[in-house]
Amino acid sequence: MSPIFTVDKVLNYKLKVPHIIKYMGSKSSLLKYLVDSFNEIYEGEDICDLFSGSSVLSGSLGNEVTMHVNDIQSYSAVLAKTYLGNYCWADYPNIIEEVIQIAQKHLEKVHVLYPKLKFEYHHNMPLKEFNDLEQQQQELIYSDFIDIEHHLFIKKYSGTYWSFEQCLWIDAIRIAAEEYSKTPVYNTILSSLMFAMAYNAQSTGHYAQYRKANNPNSMNDIIIYRKKEIIPYFEKKFKELIEFTGQNQFEHTFNSLDYRECLEFIPEGTLVYADPPYNFVHYSRFYHALETLIRYDYPDVLFKGRYRTDRHQSPFCKSSEVVGAFEELFQGIKNKKAKLVLSYSNSGMISLEEILELAKTTLGNNYEVYSKGIDYKHSTMGRVDDKSREVKEYLVMAKPINK
Ligand SMILES: C[S@@+](CC[C@H](N)C(=O)[O-])C[C@H]1O[C@@H](n2cnc3c(N)ncnc32)[C@H](O)[C@@H]1O
Repeated sequence: MSPIFTVDKVLNYKLKVPHIIKYMGSKSSLLKYLVDSFNEIYEGEDICDLFSGSSVLSGSLGNEVTMHVNDIQSYSAVLAKTYLGNYCWADYPNIIEEVIQIAQKHLEKVHVLYPKLKFEYHHNMPLKEFNDLEQQQQELIYSDFIDIEHHLFIKKYSGTYWSFEQCLWIDAIRIAAEEYSKTPVYNTILSSLMFAMAYNAQSTGHYAQYRKANNPNSMNDIIIYRKKEIIPYFEKKFKELIEFTGQNQFEHTFNSLDYRECLEFIPEGTLVYADPPYNFVHYSRFYHALETLIRYDYPDVLFKGRYRTDRHQSPFCKSSEVVGAFEELFQGIKNKKAKLVLSYSNSGMISLEEILELAKTTLGNNYEVYSKGIDYKHSTMGRVDDKSREVKEYLVMAKPINK
């Protein structure tokens, strides 16, 4: 049975947070369970979302409490700033139209300079014709585009996850966003674009690999995605985000640090929610294209999936490093006399028993440590088979005894 603590304050939260990216391991369906669990040990302190990912938890709590949001991937901070920004939307009455107009100018310029770059798809086209069309776009990676200042996506990703035309819109909106880089709207533009990218991509919403057409069926399925347009998705999400957000006076912090560094700067006594990766899949491989969108830094890309070469390798995803990674997590918590709510899964790299043992040994006698579990369906981000798996999600809870 869980220990009973005296609770001073109760956290309220928003149950419905607009979803922005399809994210492996997102806790959007567990918000109630998580916040109810926080409330078992919550006494009014700041909250740190240490591995924020889709930032949906921060979006849920950020009108209630000061959040310290962190994830090693920089797109996560953009998502969090989108949810937790301080907006006065009345100052931007025509923002969506304005952004689209700026983007449109870029599109027109590229179409004038490169009139031959037109790739038309139609259902039931001959498979060879389709694959040739894809190949021609993929080969744009060898073009310089020296006369177009911003050409990252058309160069690196045409004919892969997106068509040339979709990539052109991605570049165009990315450039338009820069006009608003000193305002909170910047993040809303980028987040709405990330949403549109996910729903236009011919992959399954992540970017570990794009699909190849081996037969007319798979070709026709890919063509459905090739014919999608970035703008309707962009507009839809933007409107939803305007509805969801408004004034927010909390002094939230947003970082893209390794979790150990983040633990060094949070205030003493913070309640830390830690949701590290639990298997060998590196998030930086699944979401490299989002990282590149945000950094827009023309990285070298490698392999068929066109991954950035400087991808982060998480210690939580390596069997030789995972134990040490947890020890450092618990040590960082102890150094800050912080509270901890840790999510993990029974299909993770190490067992619950090992985690509890590590927690108790590292945190020592001044901490009360216990665990609880919930069954839920975890998305594997596949399109057809094995779309979601029954997993048991554990929470390991730890609280200093002599506070
Ligand atoms: C299970 S996901 C978090 C999901 C998140 N709670 C949500 O609801 O979307 C794990 C996250 O840990 C991040 N991560 C992996 N290694 C990290 C590290 N060393 N420091 C900080 N973040 C890391 C990944 O980028 C990923 O977003």
